[in-house]
Amino acid sequence: MRVCSIVGARPQFVKAAVVSRKLRAVGDEVLVHTGQHYDEELSDVFFEELDIPEPDYNLGVQSDTHGRQTAKMIAALEPVLEETTPDVLLLYGDTNSTLAGAIVGSKRDVTVAHVEAGLRSDNRAMPEEVNRVMTDHASELCFAPSETAVDNLAAEGITDGVYWTGDVMYDALLKARDRSRERSTILEDLGVDDGRFVLATVHRQRNTDVRENLESIVAALADVPQPVVFPAHPRTVDRLREYGLWDRTRDTLEVIEPQGYLDFVRLLDAAERVATDSGGVQKEAFFLETRCVTMRPETEWTETVDAGWNRLVAADERRIRQALTSNWKPDSHPRPYGDGLASERIVRLLGRKLEDDLESG
Ligand code: UD1
Ligand code: UDP
Repeated sequence: MRVCSIVGARPQFVKAAVVSRKLRAVGDEVLVHTGQHYDEELSDVFFEELDIPEPDYNLGVQSDTHGRQTAKMIAALEPVLEETTPDVLLLYGDTNSTLAGAIVGSKRDVTVAHVEAGLRSDNRAMPEEVNRVMTDHASELCFAPSETAVDNLAAEGITDGVYWTGDVMYDALLKARDRSRERSTILEDLGVDDGRFVLATVHRQRNTDVRENLESIVAALADVPQPVVFPAHPRTVDRLREYGLWDRTRDTLEVIEPQGYLDFVRLLDAAERVATDSGGVQKEAFFLETRCVTMRPETEWTETVDAGWNRLVAADERRIRQALTSNWKPDSHPRPYGDGLASERIVRLLGRKLEDDLESG
């Protein structure tokens, strides 16, 4: 079995790390990095820490408008598939790199498989929502992280080739949690105490590119009585500077560079609460039993909200402040995202599909 895996952005490196290891034990993998994330702290650090093999191809596409970025990826990806003739094209998540893979794959004789299929925020203004919908509809195999995701696919008429595998990020987190507790010195380095700080991340377009939203977020975080550790995504730093909010942010928050996975997991594990607009961080907070305040009006990880571990507060200054400072407790801790064996299941299902295809000629 030869699988071509497409990655390009930070969360995809985390997801691919666990699947890639299992894949290479039973077949060949051609790893393609689109170059969507290229800064050392958004890319290289993940390859090193998570022991991800060096990509066989780096398309070097980097940042651009969504259309141009996706188009450049499509143009660069097609010859790679022609050259490597994989049986499967494996896509992760919902970035422009995912969409580019889906478009190229759907026009070739290759099985397109989507890891993290079936998620929906029902907000089409979010670029990731469009990427998810289009990728699921272009995929022959949809690996869903939860039962809700399976239902979402069924609601759009996608029932063939759908498998509830559990979530590969849970696999990754289980591996990283103990390692991060043993090895990371980030709490000491920053001088923060376990359970006595808030962690914050912001990078969603709606929050960075709408000035009032970013202003509200900074104002709410600045009011939190505990230290707020803020690993700042480069696009957020750019906007904070552009809107004249950078000095205030640096004066009131503990602004740090984006962190490597192990240090970030350590921070998330130790934080009293997290405020975020990230998809992955909402889930990881849930796995680590850290209360999460999501600065978005909706989420695709609805189970975390239903279980009481995640509060949706949009970019509303008052609601963010209230959710970060008032006393609230989760009701329960269900496990809707599987058992930490999603990556094994995915690799097994890929093998089985290829055997079936061979048998049926
Ligand atoms: C992308 C994904 C988003 C994902 C996030 C993970 C899309 C539409 N968005 O968002 O779904 O949650 O990655 O972090 O695919 N930049 C740098 N250095 C880099 C990369 C980006 O400085 O290495 C800056 C550039 O100014 C760029 C901006 O960040 O214009 C946005 O980068 P981009 O990859 O387009 O989107 P993200 O916000 O990172
Ligand atoms: N992450 C990290 N360092 C950071 C911020 C996030 O390692 O400074 C990890 C986080 O643990 C998760 C992934 O990056 O695994 C989430 O990426 P991001 O929030 O950028 O994207 P999203 O999940 O929203 O697509």
